[in-house]
Amino acid sequence: MKRGILYLLLIGVTVSLSSCSDKKRSPSIVFMPDMYYPVAYDPYTEADFEYWPERNGEKSNVPLFGEHHQMTALWPVEGSVARTDEQMILPWELKNTLEDYNKSKAITVSPLDPANRKKDLERGEKLYGQTCAVCHGAEGDGQGSIVQSKAYSGVPTYAEREITLGSVYHVIMYGKNAMGSYAPQLTPVDRWRVAEYVINLRAKNSLNAAAPAPGAETPATTATAETTTDNTNQQ
Ligand code: HEC
Repeated sequence: MKRGILYLLLIGVTVSLSSCSDKKRSPSIVFMPDMYYPVAYDPYTEADFEYWPERNGEKSNVPLFGEHHQMTALWPVEGSVARTDEQMILPWELKNTLEDYNKSKAITVSPLDPANRKKDLERGEKLYGQTCAVCHGAEGDGQGSIVQSKAYSGVPTYAEREITLGSVYHVIMYGKNAMGSYAPQLTPVDRWRVAEYVINLRAKNSLNAAAPAPGAETPATTATAETTTDNTNQQ
């Protein structure tokens, strides 16, 4: 019995020693290559058998890839929301209706981080200057350059409108009457920055208006107010 175990051990050692060799051998026939060679796919490449020497150049027939020009990148899951902002700003859920416009007025806080307020307002000012000031004027008095050139009219002052942070966002998003949407020009985070800037500007202007009374603006703006009292969204 003891000797038997000894023999077995000896055989085992010889077999394991002799099975080691530095000679490279290739297996003769592979019956099910799919099971031996994993096909690794890089994103955004055409799905072929690049990693499979015998089939290299052939198209892969993985049905999932076939849907998308044989590309390895797959479609996002249905309902996915593209997130390209530097901050996680959720989509604006309110629709382009009068009812939702009214709801937007209840929103007075933006999702921006208050710690960045100074920078946000600076960027808001810059974007306002680029996107809105031609009509609304740098001071929000409705006297932008195209209004002064008489090419365009009906731009209200911010002070005369009952606007809130949320409603400014809403109007940037969908436009209002004669004003079109500026959503394509501004990313969601930038829309908030511009909205913050507009509300700031409006607060500053009404503070100024409360002081000694410049008065000169009032007659110029009443005419525009009359033509723009209709609050319905027409887009
Ligand atoms: C082409 C000119 C034009 C540009 C550019 C423009 N607006 Fe306007 N905006 C208007 C007009 C006209 C109205 C008045 C619409 C109405 O009849 O209620 C208006 C109204 C508004 C109102 C008041 C809406 C309300 O709820 O009563 C806000 C706020 C506003 N604009 C913000 C912006 C912001 C922010 C930008 C830049 C992203 C911008 N606008 C760019 C023409 C413009």
